[in-house]
Amino acid sequence: MKTPYEEYKKSKHFMNPSGVRAECSSCHIPPGIGHKLVKKIKAINEIYSHFTGVLDTEEKYENQRARMAEKVWADMKASDSRECRSCHNQEGFVIAEFKNPKEAERMKKGLTEHLTCIECHKGVVHKMPDVSGGYKKLHEELKLSSTDPKIKADAVYPLNMVLCYNAKGGEREGRILAATRLTVLDKKGKWLKVRINGWRQDGVDAMIYELQGKRIFSTALDKAARAKPIVHSTMLDPDTEQTWHQVSYTTWVMTANMVEDRNKLWNYGEMMHNATCGTCHRAIRADHFLANQWIGVMKDMKRHIRQLDKEQYRFLQKYLQLHAKDVVKSGH
Ligand code: HEC
Ligand code: HEC
Ligand code: HEC
Ligand code: HEC
Repeated sequence: MKTPYEEYKKSKHFMNPSGVRAECSSCHIPPGIGHKLVKKIKAINEIYSHFTGVLDTEEKYENQRARMAEKVWADMKASDSRECRSCHNQEGFVIAEFKNPKEAERMKKGLTEHLTCIECHKGVVHKMPDVSGGYKKLHEELKLSSTDPKIKADAVYPLNMVLCYNAKGGEREGRILAATRLTVLDKKGKWLKVRINGWRQDGVDAMIYELQGKRIFSTALDKAARAKPIVHSTMLDPDTEQTWHQVSYTTWVMTANMVEDRNKLWNYGEMMHNATCGTCHRAIRADHFLANQWIGVMKDMKRHIRQLDKEQYRFLQKYLQLHAKDVVKSGH
């Protein structure tokens, strides 16, 4: 089984500017074997065979990866990351000289709050276990079921970001983000004429937001279409003193990737949330934060969730925002 060795060979712990190399045994000390004996164990097999016994195919290995990784994380947390500290001395770090000194302020703060290395640095050598099977499968199912153009509902919700046009088969006007409510006005073959109700902030012409005062993206308009939304009312936000306009915008989309039942999208969002945000700490409930706070939290966690592509990241953010404390309370 070559997987862990091949991953290791690509990591900074194998090759780096200082030429100091961490062996498997400097991070993995087999149970029951004293610290002094560790150096004698060289063969890769001996070091990881204690995890499960025989994992002679890639598939068997991948099936066990999450379980094995969780075991290593738990051991390292219990030992206060002793393995890491045998080379990295906490007192020796010069945060100002880090590659990302600004980001590394989080490290300084975390260490004073007694978080340990492994809580923030998972996957430094190996691939992170893939726990995305569940929500990816659901996404595939939704995609398949949304290719059928026989739309009957009076509103639909895009599964992914979709383009919108000024007419059936016309010029592009902008991009509509996933899960935005589209009221169906007309149907022509594979095309739908739809209306979007939302809010714009005075001066921010490129965006339509879902709700007043909340930065939950609905639609991003191209330059040519920015004058098109119709203003129905205008108000001054008492908290921020910004002016907001309630608008509606009529446009055309294609029928592909439209879901009629938004709860199906939210099931997908919930699964993605638990799988993505529940590996290191318990997934924090969406209604723990305000809609606008979720943007910053997601940014803070960005380095931990590199497995998400842009589309998935935006979807997760929108799912969390539309279930945020202030949105749920307003009954939206
Ligand atoms: C045998 C010594 C050794 C051990 C044990 C060790 N490291 Fe390292 N680590 C290094 C060296 C050497 C570098 C590369 C420094 C450089 O770039 O010159 C490094 C780089 C890093 C980096 C930056 C590069 C990257 O891959 O992101 C992180 C983060 C890191 N180590 C975390 C850890 C953690 C967490 C552990 C424990 C699980 C650990 N190290 C165990 C020696 C070690
Ligand atoms: C609270 C979270 C947190 C904890 C705890 C933590 N780190 Fe970090 N660490 C970070 C962040 C954030 C960065 C900067 C962003 C990046 O480079 O990934 C960083 C960067 C690093 C780097 C890269 C330095 C460089 O040259 O850029 C190393 C090495 C490192 N940490 C090792 C450790 C070790 C060893 C421990 C345990 C003693 C530890 N960290 C504990 C969050 C943490
Ligand atoms: C710098 C420390 C470090 C080195 C060096 C290292 N590992 Fe790991 N290993 C870890 C950590 C941490 C985990 C837990 C999962 C994670 O965060 O990637 C882990 C997990 C594993 C797992 C469980 C499966 C998985 O991918 O999570 C196996 C097996 C393993 N290591 C074997 C090896 C072998 C074999 C070598 C040498 C070729 C090696 N490790 C080198 C730190 C290290
Ligand atoms: C790889 C591990 C890891 C993953 C995955 C992860 N987190 Fe975290 N999270 C941490 C650690 C470590 C801390 C505490 C240190 C820090 O702030 O970096 C933290 C802190 C937090 C905090 C409190 C600090 C703040 O920024 O307000 C929130 C909220 C949070 N995480 C939410 C999330 C969400 C939402 C996701 C998924 C999008 C997520 N986390 C995924 C490791 C992780």
